[in-house]
Amino acid sequence: VKPSLDVFPTAPIGTVSPYIFSGFLEHLGRCIYGGILPSDPTTFPYTPRRPSLLTEEGFRKDVLEVLRDELSVPMVRWPGGNYVSSYNWKDGIGPKDQRKRRPELAWGGEESNQFGTDEFIAWCRLARIEPYIILNMGTGTLDDALHWIEYCNGTGDTYWASLRRKNNGRDEPHNVKYWGLGNEVWGEWQIGQETAEAYTTKARQWAHAIKLLDPTIKLIGCGETGLNHWDGVVLDGLVDKIDGHSIHLYTNFGQRDRTVYGPDAAEYSIEICKALINKARYARKVAKPITIAFDEYGVWDETVGTPQNGLQQFYTLADALAMASWLNVFVRQADIVEIACVAQSVNVISPLVTSPTGLLRQTVYWPLYLFSRYMREGTSVRVSVESPKFTGETLPAWISDIKGRPSVLDAAAAVHITENGAYSLRIAVVNRSETESIRTPIRVAYQNTHLECADVEVHELWHADVKAKNYWGRENEVSIKTSRARWDREWTFREHSFTLLVLDSKR
Ligand code: AHR
Repeated sequence: VKPSLDVFPTAPIGTVSPYIFSGFLEHLGRCIYGGILPSDPTTFPYTPRRPSLLTEEGFRKDVLEVLRDELSVPMVRWPGGNYVSSYNWKDGIGPKDQRKRRPELAWGGEESNQFGTDEFIAWCRLARIEPYIILNMGTGTLDDALHWIEYCNGTGDTYWASLRRKNNGRDEPHNVKYWGLGNEVWGEWQIGQETAEAYTTKARQWAHAIKLLDPTIKLIGCGETGLNHWDGVVLDGLVDKIDGHSIHLYTNFGQRDRTVYGPDAAEYSIEICKALINKARYARKVAKPITIAFDEYGVWDETVGTPQNGLQQFYTLADALAMASWLNVFVRQADIVEIACVAQSVNVISPLVTSPTGLLRQTVYWPLYLFSRYMREGTSVRVSVESPKFTGETLPAWISDIKGRPSVLDAAAAVHITENGAYSLRIAVVNRSETESIRTPIRVAYQNTHLECADVEVHELWHADVKAKNYWGRENEVSIKTSRARWDREWTFREHSFTLLVLDSKR
């Protein structure tokens, strides 16, 4: 195959939603206690020797600053995950020394409830992050859910709204717009597992009441992997009551693909899910768009990141290439994917790892950083790639049977028009070959009209060893290199690399 890469700025797909750079915090391992707070003060009242490591409110400054100032994370999902399905939000408000300590059923251990709704909102405000709260549809009742929403958003003279004012010493509501109707209710590990039919009936009742209480809320229905029986039944029954449908998928997990080709399965899920959404909208005559919230995704080898070690995993360059392919998928599917939450934001299968005094950016951090910086709110445009095909084994194999063998080169592109009318094209390319560099012409339709540039800004993630990792003491072993080069309308993508090309037209 003669490689080629064609970009079609005249074929827009949609705006790259800023929410595809969202995160996820769960009460699991060292995510909250160790990542957001320095520790759990009830079991290990640790105060760093340098108080400057903490904000006035007692949050870790380093984590907050990276999420806010480097990754510009727009939204965070909380408090779970599996954790939410037995979480009683009422245990997490009011004076901290009176909060109830509870057995934690999803991951084991105990929960001190030192980080509850008000702390989450305070942290979100500091981090300039929009909160996205998942409701407990396991042990929780509809009453609990309504009280939680009233506590967060109520502006009247009602009990829970008044308690929020008292607890926070301010009148302003928390204004939580995005709420999720349960987490993975389909899974046998979930507390309160339901059949698709039973969930749909219950979720319709909850959605009806929630929208009576606060019609401005955006509700995300609980999906599976987007293309399962569950997804079809839930969408058919719920599409007129929700604003989005969630999907969860991890690559490198169990029987799923353990290679950088894993995200191709996610793209297939999105394509099928979009069809299921539109089929359900058609049947129920729903005019408003319903989007996908891919509210858990990432690279998770469950033999490495286990409940025993709090799901800690150190990532290789290969994992970072998978992360870049994940983000390419979300950019290419910009017309339907509104939200994507990397699982998780700190310490738990995460791009960021903390020590008591330090912060480590893992390999998988770098694609997130580059996409967030260069692709956010651009217009995703069609890309056509010809390259050698991957002939090795992918799981599930049937995806290749249906879609054809995956391309070694994986690409997405977005166009930005700057304030002074200049035109900037960003092309993200993952070379997934372990051994071969690939040189390809890059043709941009209407190049002569819009895109005349003499040089190109290049951001490249590469290391000679595809298994290289960042680690304490070797924090920058794998990181991006930025350079400028002459633009000859072709490029060589090194073996096992991720490259982001920025082409700015002359002003
Ligand atoms: O992110 C870890 C876990 O993965 C979440 O708790 C759960 O929702 C998913 O199965």
